[in-house]
Amino acid sequence: MSAPIIEKTPSADSQTGTKKVFVKTYGCQMNVYDSQRMADALAKDGYVETSSMDDADMVLLNTCHIREKAAEKVYSEIGRIRMVREEKRAEGGDLMIGVAGCVAQAEGNEIIKRAPAVDFVIGPTTYHRLGEVVSKAKTGKKVVETEYAVEDKFEHLPAPAKKVMSGRGVTSFLTVQEGCDKFCTFCVVPYTRGSEVSRPVSQIMDEARRLVDAGVREITLLGQNVNAWHGVGSDDREWGLGELLHKLAEVDGLKRLRYVTSHPRDMDDALIEAHRDLPVLMPYLHLPVQSGSDRILKAMNRKHTGDDYRHLIDRIRTARPDIALSGDFIVGFPGETDQDFEDTMQIVRDVTHAAAYSFKYSTRPGTPGAEMPNQVPEDVKSARLQRLQALLTQQQKDFMQSLVGKHMDVLIEKPGREAGQIVGRSPWLQPVICHENVGQVGDIVNVKISQVMVNSLVSDEIATKLGQ
Ligand code: SAH
Ligand code: SF4
Ligand code: F3S
Repeated sequence: MSAPIIEKTPSADSQTGTKKVFVKTYGCQMNVYDSQRMADALAKDGYVETSSMDDADMVLLNTCHIREKAAEKVYSEIGRIRMVREEKRAEGGDLMIGVAGCVAQAEGNEIIKRAPAVDFVIGPTTYHRLGEVVSKAKTGKKVVETEYAVEDKFEHLPAPAKKVMSGRGVTSFLTVQEGCDKFCTFCVVPYTRGSEVSRPVSQIMDEARRLVDAGVREITLLGQNVNAWHGVGSDDREWGLGELLHKLAEVDGLKRLRYVTSHPRDMDDALIEAHRDLPVLMPYLHLPVQSGSDRILKAMNRKHTGDDYRHLIDRIRTARPDIALSGDFIVGFPGETDQDFEDTMQIVRDVTHAAAYSFKYSTRPGTPGAEMPNQVPEDVKSARLQRLQALLTQQQKDFMQSLVGKHMDVLIEKPGREAGQIVGRSPWLQPVICHENVGQVGDIVNVKISQVMVNSLVSDEIATKLGQ
């Protein structure tokens, strides 16, 4: 999945007398999507979501294994939850603790050994069995469900009620592909999410229509390698993501489409042309290159060069000139020299990004990178990351500044933090603070940008109102 690494807790939907689950999500957008699907599965057994551990009957941690820090966080969190459970037990209550997500898949039984307070562990391919797992755990048995499922979990996962869907806002994720066969030598995902699986067209279309019917106006298609999605189309021909986007664009009421995360090797002609031909497809692409050094790209098993990437970007920009790019970068991969790092700086200067995520290489057990000689010292990684981030931050600022004075369509998403404000999203993903009179949640409105705040844009109307 793509880079935005988040910690998110859902909003409460408390009702007295029902069982409550507190789901805490780490990691990528797919975990956000999965957390909702797990909440939907638990709803069948009478659980409602709560945003506080204090009134929860169950805590479900949806975890991320991508870097050591992300994985370790889970254990300190379990320690904290255990304390809450002690308090609850002292008062005659209880708290079930479940671990899902990529740490669950990667560590399985080890989690119970290291953190015996955990009641159950469930891997991402088996979320449709969550109800059974919870029932077993309730008998006092420790349950570890991490065998890769052969059946299609999506067929068995219940769809949420329309009311629940509506409460989740006007933008939504929709997983279309899961797993990865690329085996980049630094990455755990092929081991935690299994091999690439594409959801069938009919399933995706049904879910998209349900979302739109519940008020969703923008859908972001998700996959660890979303542009590796393929399937048999409604015309009985083999489709790729480009064709799927065309089909989704026909859904009445759906105003915006995005997809994340893509691999440069899977950007085929049909997908590039979709950026040219589909107005609903937003002009924004997260296309990680990781490094600008051909030597390092080879060692990472990315199977393309820096110039391959530059040419690809040229083609995409020719198809859609206003497209903004974002990417992921790793510094300090084993063997990375000063010159290799300079090559990364150069590709960043050549390509220019509207946003980007950059990380110090983190050694992951079981990946080929962990066995490689010439691991880069921590202080060298830190110094490189600092230089790279300074450049990327400057590019992000320049991009945002370039929008000042321009008119753009904004999808209104939610009320603002202050009275009189409403917040929308630009085609390039920046939040746009608008005057509440410009429209209602779910509307697309055209506003002029008058200034930039740190991570958001301010529309002319609100700036005037604020007397700026
Ligand atoms: N499927 C996505 C990657 C998901 S992981 C893709 O192919 O783009 C998100 C990002 O985390 C990766 O793009 C990479 O930049 C970073 N990452 C993955 N493994 C890492 C590691 N071992 N150390 C540091 N960063 C890593
Ligand atoms: Fe990881 Fe590479 Fe697969 Fe992305 S393409 S999930 S970075 S192995
Ligand atoms: Fe996503 Fe982290 Fe797993 S980035 S796929 S939750 S390892």
